Amino acid sequence: MAFFAPVTPDVSEMEKRHLDKVRKLASECVVLLHNDGVLPVPADSKIALYGNGARHTVKGGTGSGDVNSRFKVSVYDGLVEAGITVTSTSWLDRYDKDLEKYTQDYYQLIKEFAKEKQVDDITAIFQNPYSGPKLPLITKEDIEASATDTAIFIITRDAGEGKDRSQSKGDWYLTDEEAENLKTIAENYSKIIVLINAGGIIDTSFMDTYPQINALVNISQTGNLTGHITADILTGKAVPSGKLSDTWAYRYEDYPGYADFSSNNGNTDDEYYKEGIYIGYRYFDSFGIEPRYPFGFGLSYTTFDMETVKSVVEDDRMTLSVKVTNTGKTYSGKEVIQVYFSAPVIPEGHLDQPFQELIAFEKTGILAPGEFEIKEVSFSLSSMARFDSVTASRILEAGNYIIRVGNSSRNTVPAAVITVMMTIQTEIMKNLFADTVSFEELTNPGKGCEEHKDADSKAIPGLQRFVLNPESVPRSKTRYQGVRVDFEDERKGEVLTMTNVRAGNATVSELVAQLSVEEMARICVGAFFDPGTVKDSVVGAASVQVPGAAAETTDRFLRDRHIPSLVLADGPAGLRLQPHFKAGPDGCLLKGGEVWGVVTSPFPEDTPEDAVDHYQYCTAIPIATALAQSFNMDLVREMGEIVGEEMQFFHVHLWLAPGMNIHRNPLCGRNFEYYSEDPLLTGKCAAADTEGVQKYDGCGTTIKHFAGNNQEDNRMFSNSHISERALRDLYLRGFEIAVKESQPISLMTSYNLLNGIHAANHYELIQNVLRDEWGFDGVVMSDWFTSQDTSFMGNSSDVYPYSSSPLCIYAGNDWQMPGCKENMDDIITAIETERLTLGDLQFCTMNILKACLKLT
Ligand code: BGC
Repeated sequence: MAFFAPVTPDVSEMEKRHLDKVRKLASECVVLLHNDGVLPVPADSKIALYGNGARHTVKGGTGSGDVNSRFKVSVYDGLVEAGITVTSTSWLDRYDKDLEKYTQDYYQLIKEFAKEKQVDDITAIFQNPYSGPKLPLITKEDIEASATDTAIFIITRDAGEGKDRSQSKGDWYLTDEEAENLKTIAENYSKIIVLINAGGIIDTSFMDTYPQINALVNISQTGNLTGHITADILTGKAVPSGKLSDTWAYRYEDYPGYADFSSNNGNTDDEYYKEGIYIGYRYFDSFGIEPRYPFGFGLSYTTFDMETVKSVVEDDRMTLSVKVTNTGKTYSGKEVIQVYFSAPVIPEGHLDQPFQELIAFEKTGILAPGEFEIKEVSFSLSSMARFDSVTASRILEAGNYIIRVGNSSRNTVPAAVITVMMTIQTEIMKNLFADTVSFEELTNPGKGCEEHKDADSKAIPGLQRFVLNPESVPRSKTRYQGVRVDFEDERKGEVLTMTNVRAGNATVSELVAQLSVEEMARICVGAFFDPGTVKDSVVGAASVQVPGAAAETTDRFLRDRHIPSLVLADGPAGLRLQPHFKAGPDGCLLKGGEVWGVVTSPFPEDTPEDAVDHYQYCTAIPIATALAQSFNMDLVREMGEIVGEEMQFFHVHLWLAPGMNIHRNPLCGRNFEYYSEDPLLTGKCAAADTEGVQKYDGCGTTIKHFAGNNQEDNRMFSNSHISERALRDLYLRGFEIAVKESQPISLMTSYNLLNGIHAANHYELIQNVLRDEWGFDGVVMSDWFTSQDTSFMGNSSDVYPYSSSPLCIYAGNDWQMPGCKENMDDIITAIETERLTLGDLQFCTMNILKACLKLT
């Protein structure tokens, strides 16, 4: 077969353009957490650089979220290229040597483990995560040789799917060697800058231990140019304007439910979301707990003044005009206007409500010193309605809603008050997520209101007040799907094809009505067992047409029915493909060149000499959390465009991203693939990412993992017990925003169970909420191997069964990925034994064919 990938390794014009774009934009994803004026440093400085990420900067996380870019720029490379003289080379060289040895040993261990356990390398890696060698201690000689007063210490962490992070040294805490080195640095240098190169939050109590630290920067993981982006920020070529998308606590124990999270309590079978809606700042602000760095916080090299100069309410929409002035003298910069609302709390209203919630945000353009911009920030008043399980509806409760404006969750001033005279039901729904167990949830103790009492009582009397006109509030009532009808074949005697459908000579349902049960069952599972596909291929790399892509769908009906096969590739920090592969002279894909983290398979010795090399180098963009930190939705959209253009170029139809689970706890192993603890920010980012990708013809996003997938340990069998309120107002909310604002072509369900039912089998979740309530018109796929025996990967449970293939179809989880023969057989048997109706299978098939029509 012919491959789409270029046969030259040359850097294309597109690759250059994308790298330039990332370099230009991604500095907005960096968050400056502390700076006493030491930053920016002159670009001709001499700097001692220490830490595991100095020359081995992590560009993004591991697992399916990894992106195989052509190269990566470390912080060391970035600083040197910026003109800085790095004077700690003897220490850096020692670490490199240790790392080389560690990596060789690790590589060996993986190979041996894989051989012994009869598993592939990827499974072996999952079960033996790479951690890195111990850091060498900084010596007196290192310090003397560095001959500078300035030190940068970089703390690097890596995480990935299949395993949660832990509250241990080397993860949440510093390792002993890191702590020792930081102490040495604090005692021997007078200008100290600490960089955090992690996908999420770490313990930052070293800021108390070493008050000598002059600056702290969360450089995050901004793709293959992380080193350049960091150097741009450190030297002032770019001014930081990122804001935290999560609350950074003083201690891990400050997070709600920390003791029970994932493996912390020894039980990964059942996860009770006892904190209810109190996640992140919703918790810290309501319970009066001081965060170290609040949600929405981030400094600049300049300062800003923010003032709401006008507030208008028109129908359901409030628009605030906010004047932002750069009050600094030297640097230009951007600021983020954040609008929060405080809903009436008990006893005024009957719903339990957090102290405040983010309702809108906007980022200014670049403001020169002294310059100002008046920016409009607007939101619909009905988006303040919250779910009430008593009436099974979203309600805007009667009472006063205080609108607050500021530049972090902890730095706002009241700007307006909106009075709702009587409670309005904005959306009438159904309670759909009953659980068999019940548990107490946290409720707001009102500490946030106490803290703000003084400020509020001074500010509120003078505030502009609006009374909501109930007539202007849009209301809706969902009509839920009944039993799905079977389509009869009305065009007997004809053989309808997708070409007929495209030409308008047949409808999708007419075509579907002609397909046999077996044909439909085959369409509804991936192409894993089709002739020609790599049968024994590794997890998450099962595509043949586009090597390294996660999967493709069947091409079995291409000839007879003109149904094309689609290629699906991972993200979210770019496109995950195999960067270099070889094809035999007969056009057949040859072994070798597969990449999984640090392990790359060599091309075997018997590779034919006339094999043709192919190259697929993709741009690694910032991880999702870093994108969210930009608070700039134009930026996120542009990053989506990078991915969309590369998808089109490499012939990928569906991007298995963005990931949009809520950062419930900082130790979830996949947080880096997700945006934030806040559903509004999450939903807006996913919508912007989707708009960017879907701007390109034939390209679609797959928002994932739907829903309640907030931990990685025991991910296939962990049962998330979540109240209907927390689900609808927090965990589903981001998905709802993304679906309604951007109509992603596809969605991936999650591995976990939700209140006792596997997400992929959850009719209420997929049919009632996603399709009926939100109007999702795309295709739904399972996560990989969801309804298969994956004990070979170390997954099994004594408590919960595997997800069921027929139930996927019943629920409207159209595709089962990557699919297997058993999935198909189970579906066929379920139809034969009337456990599944023909209409259910036809419905899923139709959704798949509709996606094919959109994408090809
Ligand atoms: C992950 C998905 C990913 C899939 C394909 C799974 O292990 O959970 O997010 O898209 O693999 O690689």
